[in-house]
Amino acid sequence: MRQLIAGNWKMNTTTASAAALAAALREGVVGCDMLVCPPATQLVAVAAALAGSPVMVGGQDCHGSPCGAHTGDIAASMLADAGATWVILGHSERRAEHHETDAVVRAKVLAAQGAGLRPIVCVGESAAERSEGHHEAVVGAQLVGSLPSSFDGVVAYEPIWAIGSGRSATAADVEAMHAFIRTELVQLFGARGGEMRVLYGGSVKPDNAVSLMALPDVGGALVGGASLVAADFLAIARAAGG
Ligand code: PGA
Repeated sequence: MRQLIAGNWKMNTTTASAAALAAALREGVVGCDMLVCPPATQLVAVAAALAGSPVMVGGQDCHGSPCGAHTGDIAASMLADAGATWVILGHSERRAEHHETDAVVRAKVLAAQGAGLRPIVCVGESAAERSEGHHEAVVGAQLVGSLPSSFDGVVAYEPIWAIGSGRSATAADVEAMHAFIRTELVQLFGARGGEMRVLYGGSVKPDNAVSLMALPDVGGALVGGASLVAADFLAIARAAGG
């Protein structure tokens, strides 16, 4: 399975710096699937900078309704109109800061797919949930609650304690959780669940990417901080066999 290296730029960049970052990525394209998810206001500029290149563009969130009175929100169709073909949904920062429940994430997945976008649905436990031994139960419940039966996208396992901390999960933890997620996906979706890519995210850097991307059932990476530096993001993409 071809790995997907996705960059989550979060609430960073200006139009000019986003276009420059996209242009630098375009120069260094490698063989794996590559995706960047800039802030919504930068989508048009980034899509233009990457037009005709294999690097894909995605949003970081969308609303669960196709349109309407939702001040400040962005519909999936608007992301598509701006050049996105993917969208990250249910990131732990949105679950925490915007109180997104699994049901909300599920509605967003349906809205995204309805607009022709491929969702990347994030799941992952907190440090406390892991130390109490509840990490599989938490992630299992997030999968059941967030993924509709029509789900046709990618899952990203992002332990909350590893995000932005500089401390990625250990190979053993990633391997065990990805095996668990695979079993759950097969249970939920049958053979289709055996084919879905499961990304790892949380402090993926050039120096740990080779070992993380070589683990069984790791279908790529969702990269935050290191995706803002073209050389680092490209080094991670090369680690994915590009
Ligand atoms: P990080 O973020 O790579 O900066 O840890 C990952 C993410 O939040 O998707």
